[in-house]
Amino acid sequence: MSANTVAITAEQYNYDIVKKFAIMAMVWGLLGMSVGVYIASELAFPFLNFDIAEITFGRLRPVHTSLVIFGFGGSALLGTSYYVVQRTCQARLWGGKWLPEFTFWGWQLSIGIGVVLYMMGYTQAREYAEFVWPVDLAILVTWVAYATVFFMTIRKRSQPHIYVALWFYLAFILGTAVLHIFNNLAVPVAWNSFDSYSLFSGVQDAMTQWWYGHNAVGTILTIAFLGMMYYFLPKQAERPIYSYRLSIIHFWALTFLYMWVGGHHLLWTSLPDWVGSLASAFSILLLLPSWGGMINGIMTLSGAWEKLRSDPIMLFMITAMAFYGMSTFEGPMMSLKSVNALSHYTDWTIGHVHSGALGWVAMITIGSFYHMVPRLWGVKLYSTKLVFTHFWVATVGIVLYIVALWVAGIGQGLMLRAFDQYGNLAYTFVETVTFMHIPYVVRAVGGALFLSGMVLMAYNLYMTVWGARRELVPVAGQAAVAATRV
Ligand code: HEM
Ligand code: HEM
Repeated sequence: MSANTVAITAEQYNYDIVKKFAIMAMVWGLLGMSVGVYIASELAFPFLNFDIAEITFGRLRPVHTSLVIFGFGGSALLGTSYYVVQRTCQARLWGGKWLPEFTFWGWQLSIGIGVVLYMMGYTQAREYAEFVWPVDLAILVTWVAYATVFFMTIRKRSQPHIYVALWFYLAFILGTAVLHIFNNLAVPVAWNSFDSYSLFSGVQDAMTQWWYGHNAVGTILTIAFLGMMYYFLPKQAERPIYSYRLSIIHFWALTFLYMWVGGHHLLWTSLPDWVGSLASAFSILLLLPSWGGMINGIMTLSGAWEKLRSDPIMLFMITAMAFYGMSTFEGPMMSLKSVNALSHYTDWTIGHVHSGALGWVAMITIGSFYHMVPRLWGVKLYSTKLVFTHFWVATVGIVLYIVALWVAGIGQGLMLRAFDQYGNLAYTFVETVTFMHIPYVVRAVGGALFLSGMVLMAYNLYMTVWGARRELVPVAGQAAVAATRV
């Protein structure tokens, strides 16, 4: 395409769709994390299952994972990608009003209906892909529409350059499509039934599922959120990314390496040994680009470290980078066969998940939202002090969560493999469960703290937007005000 460099002004962007996704990300985030706190409490105090099938741990667990990953994370990603693609391409979102709107409703309804069906007992029983086949089809159609809007906006850009954040979002869109299609290949039992049979069976089925499972982590929880980081972190720091070259290496290394590592979820199983070894080797290699990316993000602030004292949004982003570094160190370590023999089937894995999910994914999203939401409505943030409070409450919450599960997981792993002098198991399974009671209570408290931080954020952003509306009443249109302030 021939690119010209005509800049467009704020009121020409389609911000309405970004606002809707941002609001729903907050709604799903609050709901999904509340369910997280509830199931954490159920593990500590099983009476909370109340013998009501719909709210038992088994049914609520996928409600939690789907709401936080696809509801909160997914809505945040679709929303920010629409924001970033318009701003970096200097072009209005393609597809008029209705195609982006279709992606919004398609996404929200799929998730809403999908999780209600889980509670009613309908699931495909594949982790992170529990949605039944009609919901999978709805997601597929929505995703094709989303990809079309995104690609076509890039195509009609008025800037010659495609900024690196868009590369990450593009890999997320393509990668997720491939994963979603292949892992969900199934034959419905009947057109009027939610049940279906996977096209794969046995060890191939397990391998396909974990090829999907880890790439959901790689493509969605890592690569996509890196797209968010590469736009919002430099913006908030008010300086260019530390090394553009490093960001390109980061991109290609991650997209090449992630596809190979799914086997590390199936070490010591009937999966052929060499497949596990290959996955472990690629997992270790992943450490290098991941840390390159972490350094790139953190060093963007070099020369302006004092911002960490005055700017809590920057604090969220830099802490997110630190947790990104920490979880991408822990992951390769856990993929070593000897370490995995201890960590697998224990809560250490759950701790690792949440150092990534809360420390990296949620923290970078929170930082980006504090940056983006006031700009969307063309106003100032209601309270910076509240952002500071949010930061500390969330950080203490995460530390409690992870440390509790290190204790629970490593303790449990050691107990499960301890033998007495006669070669009998030293502990029964129930003894390991009793041992984990206190760490489970601490984890629930940590989660509740993180959730209260989210409530503070919702209040702060609500007041930000409410203030905006009040200010905007007498003027002709909000776009006019937004244009003067963004
Ligand atoms: C208030 C915050 C949160 C709390 C209290 C919480 C709690 C929990 C609990 C209790 C489990 C089940 C663990 C088990 O089966 O033993 C879980 C699983 C999980 N959560 Fe969270 N969670 C929170 C936030 C999040 C967020 C924000 C994300 C993602 C962005 C997330 C992603 C996951 C994933 C992927 C799993 C499945 C882990 C696995 O199977 O290994 N959680 N969470
Ligand atoms: C270099 C990067 C990483 C590597 C090599 C890695 C490796 C691993 C390993 C070995 C496991 C345990 C598998 C098992 O024993 O079953 C695991 C679990 C997991 N990791 Fe990572 N990890 C990395 C980064 C991350 C990040 C940044 C996140 C972000 C949120 C994350 C999310 C998860 C999840 C959700 C699981 C649990 C999957 C399940 O069993 O349900 N990982 N990872």
